[in-house]
Amino acid sequence: MYTTILTELNEGIFTITVNRPDKLNALNRDVFNDLDKAMDAVYQQSDIRSVIITGAGTKAFVAGADITEFSALSVEEAKQLSRRGQAVFHKIEQSPKPVVAAVNGFALGGGCELAMACHFRICSEQARFGQPEVNLGLIPGYGGTQRLTQLVGKGKSMEWQMSARMIDAREALAAGLVNYVTDADGLMPKAIDILQLIQTKAPLAVAKIIHCVNVAAMGDSAFSNGKSGFEVEVEDFGACFATEDMKEGTTAFVEKRKAQFSGK
Ligand code: COA
Repeated sequence: MYTTILTELNEGIFTITVNRPDKLNALNRDVFNDLDKAMDAVYQQSDIRSVIITGAGTKAFVAGADITEFSALSVEEAKQLSRRGQAVFHKIEQSPKPVVAAVNGFALGGGCELAMACHFRICSEQARFGQPEVNLGLIPGYGGTQRLTQLVGKGKSMEWQMSARMIDAREALAAGLVNYVTDADGLMPKAIDILQLIQTKAPLAVAKIIHCVNVAAMGDSAFSNGKSGFEVEVEDFGACFATEDMKEGTTAFVEKRKAQFSGK
């Protein structure tokens, strides 16, 4: 079904592993097609509750867009590539189910952009982040100029992108680019641990958190049909009151028992 990614579903957690280790998992067209298809499965399959995206091998998460596909592109073709990459990454960012990046090595260029499209990131001590596109006479094209600025602020975003500097795990943690740093063996267990906790919560409420936070973070109408973030919150808060899970959650609290959410 897929040629460039591996997938595995275990207790609701769908792990997507970009699998071109000999090319440090660089994102070519096939990887984008596979990620697109895998995210369709995430949206459609009720047995998928949450997602981990990681890279195969010990060296890289994803070392960028596949540079070998760049040289022959016209301006129009490059714009199409950028739109395509952005669309797939928007699909990840807007997923109603939580998506965490488990960054196990180099996350450069498109790899850093992929990690930033996920809802949050954890990384191993070996991780290295960066937007080195200026080394190639380019700029990020899959949302990196926007998402890096949201995540680490304007000053760091400017410096990191203009200098093409590699950012180690410690600096990424201090800047808020990642939530946790683990040793290499602890990375996947940590991702699973967090997602198992999230999977005990009401799925529709989790989806609305993702929606509202995306509206806040993007600061534009891409996720909100032009409504303010506060108005979107009003609507999503209100919509929770039509769910069975809200009745179950509030009843369970009163009855001093653990809520059993159905996702309805
Ligand atoms: N696109 C295509 N191929 C890539 C790639 C990319 N972004 N990143 C790595 N590769 C390939 C290399 O060409 C090499 O292939 P080869 O064995 O057929 O020659 C293989 O992956 C291993 O990479 P290599 O450069 O030998 O590993 P390294 O340990 O010496 O260096 C990096 C690691 C990450 C520092 C280096 O690969 C690099 O700078 N990659 C490009 C990063 C980048 O600019 N990304 C942004 C793209 S917009």
